[in-house]
Order: sequence, then structure tokens, then C-alpha cells
Amino acid sequence: MAVQWADYDLDDIRHRYDRIASLIVPFEWLLFMPTAFRRTAVARIGLQGGERVLEIGCGTGRNLPFLREAVGPTGTVYGVDFSAGMLARARAGVASHGWDNVVLTECDAAEYRAPEPLDAVMFGLSYNTMPHHRAVLARALDLLKPGGRIVIMDAKLPPGIGGRMVLPFSIWLMKHTVLGNPCIRPWEHLEPLVDDFQMEEYLFGSYYVCRGVKRG
Ligand SMILES: C[S@@+](CC[C@H](N)C(=O)[O-])C[C@H]1O[C@@H](n2cnc3c(N)ncnc32)[C@H](O)[C@@H]1O
Repeated sequence: MAVQWADYDLDDIRHRYDRIASLIVPFEWLLFMPTAFRRTAVARIGLQGGERVLEIGCGTGRNLPFLREAVGPTGTVYGVDFSAGMLARARAGVASHGWDNVVLTECDAAEYRAPEPLDAVMFGLSYNTMPHHRAVLARALDLLKPGGRIVIMDAKLPPGIGGRMVLPFSIWLMKHTVLGNPCIRPWEHLEPLVDDFQMEEYLFGSYYVCRGVKRG
């Protein structure tokens, strides 16, 4: 089993997600995602009614109900994803709920331009699937108003020897599923760029939500 991560190119990642769009819920079970993780992560953004929030890598829209609920009917939820297969499912969900304040865009997150300054941005289980994550993070901060909040929610290796022991299996599993690089530490990328950095871990440190505030 390989113990190093080799980045995939963007087309390979996009095609992988087009193929696995129907498997996101089974993958949540396979990867032991805590039941309330999505709701908890969205709560950590601290959204108010009427605010504008972007989910980067919104996928099939599994976080959209929580984001939509948090900003209410007067707010706007933007979502960007580069997989047509994933977005088709998100669009079907938005249409079935009749949400007219959820706006989804198909493009590489590094190229995304929001139509207005944003109050908040969330990476929803997506940061470590992007080999150019630092460029996407810089773009996310550009899109935020000063004082806007940024959240990264994701899985990670548990701390210490447990993490080192599961790394080979984790790399194997990621290569065969969602292509998330388990070797990066996104919270260390975010912390130096924001004010009021905070991080919470769940399920023995195998999931986390980190957040910060854009400097004014
Ligand atoms: C693991 S899925 C998470 C989807 C969703 N946020 C969720 O929580 O279920 C990662 C998503 O990021 C998207 N993604 C990966 N790289 C991207 C990029 N460069 N630009 C836009 N979307 C990207 C994938 O297409 C996929 O839908």
C-alpha cells in the first residue's frame, strides 16, 4: 500500500465525482461521518437571516438545507462545484424544494466569482479534494466582506499514533472513493490568514470544523 499522496489533475477529480454522484450517502456511512456533522458545521458559521453564504464544492447539495435554513428566505445561498453529475442532483433538490434563493454555478472553485460580496464561505468536505486548495482558499477570502466568516469542515486523520497507523489505509480508501488528500492540514493553512481562529474536533479527532474571520 502506498503511504504517500499523489495529487490528481482537475479533470480526473471532476470525472471521478461525475461517476460517484449517486454514492455520496453510502460514503458518509463508510467514512463514519457523525450524523449531526453537517448541521453542527453550518451552526459554526453563525449565519443570520438575510446573509449571503457560499458553499465551495457543494456537491449534491447535502449541506444546502442547513445553509438555506440559516439564512432564511431573505438570504442567499450560493454553491459552486465543477462536477456536472454532482450539481445535477443539487439542482434537482433545489427545484423540488422550490428554493428561489439558492444559486448554483458549475466551475472550478478557483475561478468562481460571486455576484456580490459574501458574509460567509464554507468548504463542505471539499478542501482536501482540491490540489490547488491554497489558491481556492485565497479566492474564498477575496470573495468575503471584511469581517466575513470562513469555515472548513472535513474529515482528517486522528491525532498521534492512531493517525499514523491508519494513514496507509486512509490513502488507499481516498484513492478509491472521494480523492481527498489525508496528508494535508487545512486548519494550518487557514489559521495564519484569519482573525478569531477556532477549531473543534469530533469522533476522536477524525472530523473537524475550523473557522475564522476575514481581517478588516
Ligand atoms: C466530498 S464532495 C462534498 C460535496 C458536498 N459539499 C457534501 O458535503 O456532500 C467534494 C466536492 O467538491 C467538488 N470539487 C472538487 N474539486 C473542485 C474544484 N476544483 N472546483 C469545484 N468543485 C470541486 C467535487 O466535485 C465534489 O462535489
